[in-house]
Amino acid sequence: MEYMGNKEYWDEKFVSRSDNPLNPEKSIVENIEYFKNGTILDIACGDGRNALFLAEKGFKVTGVDFSSRALERLEMFAKRYRYSVNTLQIDLSTPNPLNAIGIFDNVLINHYRLNKQQLKHIESHITDEGILFICGFGYKHKVDSKIREEDLIQATDFEDIENSFELINDAENLDDRGFFVTYIFRKRKS
Ligand SMILES: C[S@@+](CC[C@H](N)C(=O)[O-])C[C@H]1O[C@@H](n2cnc3c(N)ncnc32)[C@H](O)[C@@H]1O
Repeated sequence: MEYMGNKEYWDEKFVSRSDNPLNPEKSIVENIEYFKNGTILDIACGDGRNALFLAEKGFKVTGVDFSSRALERLEMFAKRYRYSVNTLQIDLSTPNPLNAIGIFDNVLINHYRLNKQQLKHIESHITDEGILFICGFGYKHKVDSKIREEDLIQATDFEDIENSFELINDAENLDDRGFFVTYIFRKRKS
């Protein structure tokens, strides 16, 4: 799915941003201890505020997004701060978009919503006891012209992965940006 807009919408949004990355997501900073040491796949990474933070903390990060402008900015920031971050331009709305991407110790999905089928597919891209970290606008967030009902994370999104993942932490937060949810899952040993 396209989250809030198509590629042109996001390209334009990233081009008009300032010359510095935004701060990383608060929930990621506060919950960093849950990540497993090693690699992280940052899905719909944007221009990399979280990828950069995680690279700084020593993780080996791969960011995927369909916006070439976002990835160019992420590459520029990574070079500026001398972090090594892999980037791949992938449209997540195409069939099996992550097939060739390999396996990671952690998958981060921050402010993007995968459908149930895509979430199920993520299973095969996470190592045993690896982490699936999801954060974004939750089911009580206000729907408006930009954020549609289908963009909001619902607890039922995770019904099909319950057997293979254990929910190790979850939180709901209301602030001036809206209603946020965080779900942190650990993949069970096979
Ligand atoms: C709200 S931003 C979140 C960016 C980043 N995860 C963060 O937390 O700053 C949503 C991101 O989803 C990307 N996106 C939207 N639809 C997509 C699609 N079909 N395939 C890949 N990326 C997509 C946009 O380019 C944008 O970078």
